[in-house]
Amino acid sequence: MTIDLLKFFAMKTSLIQKYNVPGPRYTSYPTVPYWDETDFSYQNWIDTLKKTFIESNNKEGISLYIHLPFCESMCTFCGCNKRITKNHDVENPYIEAVLKEWSLYCKILGEKPVIKEIHLGGGTPTFFSTKNLEDLINGIFHYATKAKNYEFSFEGHPNNTTYAHLKKLYDLGFRRVSFGVQDYSEKVQKAIHREQPFHNVAKVTFWAREIGYTSIGHDIIFGLPFQQEKDIIDTIEKTKSLQPDRLAFYSYAHVPWIKGNGQRGFKDEDIPRDEEKRRLYEIGKELLYEYDYCEIGMDHFALKTDSLFEAFENRELHRNFMGYSASKTQLMIGLGVSSISDSWYSFAQNEKNLEDYYQILEWDRLPVFRGHLLSDEDLIIRRHILNLMCQFETSWQESAHYFEEIPQILMQLEEMEKDGLLSLKEKSIHVTEKGKPYVRNICMAFDMRLKRKTPETALFSMTI
Ligand SMILES: C[S@@+](CC[C@H](N)C(=O)[O-])C[C@H]1O[C@@H](n2cnc3c(N)ncnc32)[C@H](O)[C@@H]1O
Ligand code: SF4
Repeated sequence: MTIDLLKFFAMKTSLIQKYNVPGPRYTSYPTVPYWDETDFSYQNWIDTLKKTFIESNNKEGISLYIHLPFCESMCTFCGCNKRITKNHDVENPYIEAVLKEWSLYCKILGEKPVIKEIHLGGGTPTFFSTKNLEDLINGIFHYATKAKNYEFSFEGHPNNTTYAHLKKLYDLGFRRVSFGVQDYSEKVQKAIHREQPFHNVAKVTFWAREIGYTSIGHDIIFGLPFQQEKDIIDTIEKTKSLQPDRLAFYSYAHVPWIKGNGQRGFKDEDIPRDEEKRRLYEIGKELLYEYDYCEIGMDHFALKTDSLFEAFENRELHRNFMGYSASKTQLMIGLGVSSISDSWYSFAQNEKNLEDYYQILEWDRLPVFRGHLLSDEDLIIRRHILNLMCQFETSWQESAHYFEEIPQILMQLEEMEKDGLLSLKEKSIHVTEKGKPYVRNICMAFDMRLKRKTPETALFSMTI
């Protein structure tokens, strides 16, 4: 190895050591552990919800996230809110509860809302029968109408998505689907308790394309237990052969404090960390670039023909609790157990325990159990974090006064500029190519709530 190459790797290693710290993924600002519940109440959630709905004049449309929590089998890496069962009798009561929750929201809003986006997430939406999914969507539109340019999407598990699921959801207006792939190596799959052969993924991808879905996504994870460079290469090559339109290339979030993941087939020492993990990312990213996938935001890649790439180019990309989306709505209502809603001025989260969720609905009350009212400062920081996550840059012309008061932020940004992660101008920053993997760290420089109170217990996964 030449001296220059040795220097290059030494520099990378020291950057990783410097920036690999626990940090949020910023699907919201403030992040959930930093919500301040002192000013939040059930009534002010309803008030801000109505305020945003009235402001939008019911024209822009709202986004609906519907959490469908059941899975037949437990993946031991999974950080989602899920309930494992093989008993499909749970489907009907759950759909009824979600529709009841929706009817309560529509009563509060007072007129039939226009829906711009629906995302079915989980758990596993394809756990449910086609009949129940149809009843769910028809039930939603009993109280609502569709926006002209609506976008409906869902998460499908390749092991249980059927042709009938894809066809029925297509007929109901769904055009986007994402499939959980994770990794194709048998050793990794065994460790995470998710045995899923390539042909299962190929089959559902072909079906979706044949039926007419315009955006097919695959989720891949780097940093899984026992995962090696050859596994990432093999997984991406197999993925490329199926040509999904977009790819989530997630960093494995090791969050063992989330309960209920059962007996793991791996030990902490089996998880690649630091440089080893970063190398998996670098190799994956290089290959994705080679195969014409463009990085459009944290963990996300898309072909130039995909609407997410177009939104990134037009600076219209948005990020919320559902991940990235091609358009922004001011109001997002999360239905189902553990779902989070966002009225722009406040957040609210539903009960995380299924039995409590059912019980509160029985009392004709929204099953909200906590939330946060955004302060003026939160709204400014939220804007910068969204800009960084969606455009890799931000500027503070309008909030200059606010930022002058916080030299601490500027000092940190200058340090990052020295490390080559960003370029800093008088009132703006731009994340460099080298800085893109560190975008969470750059956002953390703006996160005043995190700065004021360092967590005492583990709240976030590592940034690398
Ligand atoms: C709700 S699951 C997808 C739908 C379906 N349940 C499945 O597994 O195919 C959403 C995605 O979250 C990602 N995910 C879950 N836990 C994760 C973790 N701990 N770290 C990184 N990504 C994770 C996986 O890539 C997974 O495909
Ligand atoms: S990865 Fe998907 S199928 Fe596996 S436990 Fe999580 S939500 Fe369920």
